[in-house]
Amino acid sequence: MDTRIVMAGDGAPGHAGFFVTFEGGEGSGKTTQIARAARALRDTGREVVVTREPGGSPGADAIRRIILGGRAKALGADVEAVLFAAARADHLQTLIRPALARGAAVLCDRFLDSTRVYQGLADGVDPAFLALLEDATIAETRPDLTLILDLPASEGLSRAAARRGEDAADRFEAEGLDLHDARRRAFLEIAEREPERCVVIDAAADEGTVAARVAAALSERLPVLAS
Ligand code: TYD
Repeated sequence: MDTRIVMAGDGAPGHAGFFVTFEGGEGSGKTTQIARAARALRDTGREVVVTREPGGSPGADAIRRIILGGRAKALGADVEAVLFAAARADHLQTLIRPALARGAAVLCDRFLDSTRVYQGLADGVDPAFLALLEDATIAETRPDLTLILDLPASEGLSRAAARRGEDAADRFEAEGLDLHDARRRAFLEIAEREPERCVVIDAAADEGTVAARVAAALSERLPVLAS
């Protein structure tokens, strides 16, 4: 049993609401699945806030444009990690924490695991430095549940390319298949290390099947939220 839910009665210790993050590689279907989960949760009458990173607040969106436009790349992976953390600090302060305090369910497209995977395990930023950034920015506002949408990197990249059409690939999509594969493995390693927080969802199936898997994980891990 998830004792954190039992202790809080409605929501985990530290906040009244529920904080659920969705992680995974490019084209893993996070955005679509979040929208479906949000509709289902709203049907239970709960306030649901859907957001994403990098971004989610005006300050964080300004930083997002700098990072994804590629201007931060020349400054190196450490600086990029600081920029992601700065965006996250603003997002938490202005949107996520107030929503959790109201008792809302916050569904966030990418969060701290993306930094660990993209800037850490794959881009070589020292994990100890990332842990310091996490403590400074996230502190106690840890996700109650993280759903990792998993599928082969090659399939994710072709889905992302199909969605993009003629538009240019962003800074991260443009990287090689090996790197995307390494990131996939890194997400799976996080799930292995933190099984109480993370659930891996096989995202290679059709949209409806994946949505059913997401719904099952939500009601199993956060039964109070799904009822
Ligand atoms: P986005 O267009 O939102 O892509 P996606 O649909 O894949 O989420 O771009 C976000 C990109 O930023 C994505 O390639 C992952 C990367 N990213 C990091 O490198 N570190 C982070 O901490 C976060 C939140 C995202």
